[in-house]
Parts: sequence; C-alpha cells; structure tokens
Amino acid sequence: MSIIPVPRVAVIVVAAGSGSRLAAGIPKAFVGLDDHTILRHALRGIFEAPPMQVIVVAPAGREGDALTDAEEAAADRRDLVSVVTGGPSRQASVAAGLAVLWGDVEYVLVHDAARALTPPDVFTRVIGALEAGAAGVVPVMPVVDTIRQMEGDTIVGVVDRSSLTAAQTPQGFQRGILESAYAAAEDEYTDDAAVVAAAGHTITTVAGDGVGFKITTRADLDRARGLVRPLRHTSAPLGEPALPRVGIGTDVHAFGGDGSLWLAGLEWPGEQALSGHSDGDAVAHAIVDALLAASGLGDIGTHFGTDRPEYGGAHAEAFLGRTLALLGEAGLRVGNVSVQVQARRPRLAGRRAEAEAVLSRALGGAPVSVSATTTDGLGFTGAGEGVAAFAVALVVPAR
Ligand code: CTP
Ligand code: MG
Repeated sequence: MSIIPVPRVAVIVVAAGSGSRLAAGIPKAFVGLDDHTILRHALRGIFEAPPMQVIVVAPAGREGDALTDAEEAAADRRDLVSVVTGGPSRQASVAAGLAVLWGDVEYVLVHDAARALTPPDVFTRVIGALEAGAAGVVPVMPVVDTIRQMEGDTIVGVVDRSSLTAAQTPQGFQRGILESAYAAAEDEYTDDAAVVAAAGHTITTVAGDGVGFKITTRADLDRARGLVRPLRHTSAPLGEPALPRVGIGTDVHAFGGDGSLWLAGLEWPGEQALSGHSDGDAVAHAIVDALLAASGLGDIGTHFGTDRPEYGGAHAEAFLGRTLALLGEAGLRVGNVSVQVQARRPRLAGRRAEAEAVLSRALGGAPVSVSATTTDGLGFTGAGEGVAAFAVALVVPAR
C-alpha cells in the first residue's frame, strides 16, 4: 500500500460573499464565466499548483454546490477537499476555514474565489517565499493609474505611484502566525496581510499576475468571460484554426454641441458640432461597440459610461486606444473594421483617406474602411438633425 503524504500547505478559498456589487441575483462564486462558475475556475488554478489541503468557504445553504465544484476540479484528489460555511464578513469566513486545518499543515494560503483566473505560478511563488522563511507573503501588481488625493470633490494632490502597490491573493502565512493574528484581531481588516501586520509581523511580496484581478463589478465579469473564451480557442486541437469573431456597433449623435465638429477621428472646422458626453464622434463610438461585441467584452457603456469623467470631451484616439488595450488583455487583436456614416453633412468623401489613416493608427494599424451615404433627404440624418454610424469589426486571437 502506498502512503500519500499529507500536504504541508493548505489553501482557504473564501467564496461566501454575496457579491452585492456584481448584483447577479445569486452569490458571486456561483456566477458562470462559461459553463463553469467563478468558483470552479478559481479551483482549477489551485489544483494545477502543488497539492494542498483545499478548504472552500461557502455561503450558508450553498455548501453542496461548492462541494460539487470542488470535487469536479479536484478529479482524483477529492481527498484534499473540504467545505465549510462562511460568516457575515470575509474575516469571519477566513476564521471558519482556519478552524478545519489539518494537523500537519505548516503554511496557510488565503485566496479570494472572486480572483477566478489567478494562474498556478502565483501559488507556487507564494509557497516558495514561505518555504524561504517569510512570515507573510502578498502577490502584488504595480499601480498603473495616476492616483489622486481628494478632499470633497476637489483634487488636492497626486500620490507618487512608485510608493504604491496593489495587493492580490493568494496571501500566504506561517500557520501559527496567521492563527494567532486572527485570534488577536479585534477590528475588521481589508485583507489577511493587514491582520498579520497588525499583530506586528513583516509582510514580504512576490509578483502577482494581471489576470489575477478580482471580479467585483459587471465590467470585471465581462472581462473575465472574454479571457476565458479565447483561452478555449487556443486550446483547440492542432489543425483546427481558432475562428475569428465579428461584431456590430451603431451610434447616433444629434447636432447641437459646442465647439467644432469631431467625426471619424477628424476635426471639421466650420461644421456644426455633435452633442454628447465625449466629442460625439458617432463613427468612433460605433467602432468601439463593434470591437467590444466581437470580443464578448460588453459594450461602450460597460467601459466608457458617463460616470467616467476622463472620457468627457475625449476624442477617437482615447476611445479606440483603450478598446485596443482591452482586446489585448483578452488575448485578441483587430482583424479589420468597416464603418458607414449616414449624414447630410459633412461631406466625408474628400477626407476619407485621412479619416481611415487616423482611425487605423488608433487601432494599432488594423485596416479601417470608412464609407458614407446620404439618405435621399429621409429620416433624421436626411433632415440634417444628426449623424448615424454603423460599424462591423472582425477580431482574431492575438497568438
Ligand atoms: N467573502 C467571504 N465571506 C464574506 C464576504 C466575502 O467568503 N462574508 C469572500 C468573497 O466570496 C470573495 C472574497 O471574499 O471571494 C472577496 O470579497 P468581495 O470581492 O468583496 O466579494 P463579495 O463580498 O461577495 O462582494 P461585494 O463586496 O460586492 O458584496
Ligand atoms: Mg465584499
């Protein structure tokens, strides 16, 4: 009889939250990314890492569903899995997991199920740092956004990015240190590293991973779904090419904005401006919608809503550049784009090549065709009340 060694590492996967910001109507961990839930995806990364005791902390009443997901992900290592019921806060849920650690476990990792796509290497790096003697380890990502300090509605300063870092999970700890820090914790902390730091221990860092983002909002969910789909394409059997995907987008803006007209990425001096939260460039917005639709990443409202002040007055380059980056993160690139404008004015024909060049450059050089038509005086475009644009885009896997 062979004896399977008891693992020295345990991971507590906290999945007991309700997901109030995602507002999917069911607990967040059970929302589907494809035909698998967020929890099931989170567990896939874990079972590809070295063997660990896996404790899933489930919402009350959902323990059976959590066990089904965990056993499916575990395959022939079901012996490693247990499910416990969570508490009213994340901290209480972690504590519920700590209560069922096996005796031989020396290192404990705590992971958010909501970070469904964290790759196994991040687990391996955290375990490596613990084996090298760290008391506590956090995977981190550089902060890319400019962070500003606010007082009320006013910006009072810019925070130096180089002194900041964004913490992810799994966060790992020497077992005794985590247990005693939790036993001593009187306040609610934002993460486990904060609990352990409050108990006076030093926390070290390892590199996190861009796909280890936490699914919090609808936009995060769309992004995760977009990432899961192309992963499937690339694992298609050899000889079976990944299929390109098409998307459609339309947009309409009324004349009546301030300043000059911006359309198809160009400024049109002397022409009446379009109204809108941004510059009203219906051509650029239709292209964004077509690209996002083709990529399964939602639509323009998901990523550029009027709640994003940085896109107030923004031009085509800002919208298309950001869209290109979203596609890149999803493992996709632009095949080509075709867009048709319905408008009485301006006369696009004379500047078609210029518009195509500007739009193509904003999309990293992908071909963009711009055509235009009038509508024989019919409808709102024929009456000169506004402009409509219709775009079709093709996206293909980046690799
Ligand atoms: N979590 C938990 N128990 C709680 C609260 C949160 O196990 N009482 C888990 C969540 O399931 C999630 C992780 O902690 O995997 C990170 O929390 P968060 O992203 O905030 O998830 P929710 O609390 O579910 O979401 P929201 O805050 O939007 O309600
Ligand atoms: Mg929460």
